[in-house]
Amino acid sequence: MKIAQFSRFGFMISAVGAAVGLGNIWKFPYITGKYGGGAFVLVYLITVMLVGFSVMIAEMLIGYLGRRDCNTNFEHLAPRHKGLWKHAGWMAVTSTLVMMYYSVVIGWILNYIVVASTRLPASIAEAEVTFNTMLTQGVGTQIFYHTLAFLITTIVVAKGIKGGIEKFNMILMPLLIAILAIMFAYAMTMSSFSHAASYMFAADWSKLNSEAFAVAVGHAFFTLSLGYGSIMIYSASLPKGGNIVHSTLFVIAGDTLIALMAGMVLFTFLFQYGAEPAKGPGLVFISLPAVFYAMGAIGSIFAVLFFFALAFAGLTSAVSLVEPMVQYLIDKFDMTRLKAAIVIGLIFYLFGIVAILSQIEWSAPYLTWGGKNFFDWMDYLTSSVLLPVAGFIMAIFVGFVIEKERVTSVLKSQLGWSFPLWYFSIRYIAPIALIFVMLNLMGIITF
Ligand code: PHE
Repeated sequence: MKIAQFSRFGFMISAVGAAVGLGNIWKFPYITGKYGGGAFVLVYLITVMLVGFSVMIAEMLIGYLGRRDCNTNFEHLAPRHKGLWKHAGWMAVTSTLVMMYYSVVIGWILNYIVVASTRLPASIAEAEVTFNTMLTQGVGTQIFYHTLAFLITTIVVAKGIKGGIEKFNMILMPLLIAILAIMFAYAMTMSSFSHAASYMFAADWSKLNSEAFAVAVGHAFFTLSLGYGSIMIYSASLPKGGNIVHSTLFVIAGDTLIALMAGMVLFTFLFQYGAEPAKGPGLVFISLPAVFYAMGAIGSIFAVLFFFALAFAGLTSAVSLVEPMVQYLIDKFDMTRLKAAIVIGLIFYLFGIVAILSQIEWSAPYLTWGGKNFFDWMDYLTSSVLLPVAGFIMAIFVGFVIEKERVTSVLKSQLGWSFPLWYFSIRYIAPIALIFVMLNLMGIITF
């Protein structure tokens, strides 16, 4: 089966679109707040540079050499034990699991575009009521906007790599960057800008425990979209001669820059109006709307722009989360793209409704196990458990299983003198870091 290809630039923008998502603007600021700021940011940045960089090259390489769905790529590239290795491709299932809650959050954001344009809450207390009412009682509202997120995503994916995904990213990503740049410029004029900078960059090591460490590594993977098959499946459509290393650098730089910018904007606004940074997942939906209200006229404009930007970030990632399993159905069952998109769409759509119900007051008790509801389980299972495993498998596969000549044939010229460094990192540094994360999760290593 031939996969329609991106243009080279379209590939880079789409890969940045996959990486820049709710992770950057919704998650990064609140986990930074939760784990105490600077030290956490530093560990995250170091992980992105050391582990994220080498694993992204590996994931792109597997896609680029394999050029098919994830299972077939592993099968095709493994010199021995093909039947076993093809199962590594099941890492792509993670992407659909993520969509089961990701689409719900995009739904909240779409709802908040409306909230922001009609009735911004006047205080944090009021904002809390607005958000919690939606979360614990608003079944209809949440399902409505989740349906919208499902429809947009499915239609774009059904239109294909070039006519759907690439085009969508080429329009939304520049808009997202423009909105963020305007808000960043405005934040720079505020007196709390330097407070925000010291909060994000001054490291207080005493706050950094092993959990924060593991979360930072997990988040580095999540935000770069590593270990989900998204980057692999996009790279399968990278035209021959496309540069993996340049693309990786571009994606990492873009993703990091946007996360840091979003963090600076959010923390500046919050500090300026005396709001607390560590508010958990509600940060963007509770503290921020109240702060926008306090900012007056400009605040109401920013509020709408901000939620649009967040929706753009989320949707461009969502299409990359749907694509891996869609490609699987196309390759394996010869399905048309439209049909494959509908099948995968319906799966995450229906489980998304379960995720919604798992937070609704009356149904939550039935959908909660071990202190976590279905929504939280999906988040935990995907970003904290499946992802380090997938990262580890890819690192071992590229570092030890694929013949070195195959790896060098593509990467030697692209990496130049740094090839041995990358090769060392993918064989030893990345796997060790990922083993550490897994041991930490099991409670075996903690500090
Ligand atoms: N990287 C995206 C984000 O930061 C999430 C994502 C993960 C998208 C995996 C695709 C694959 O929100």
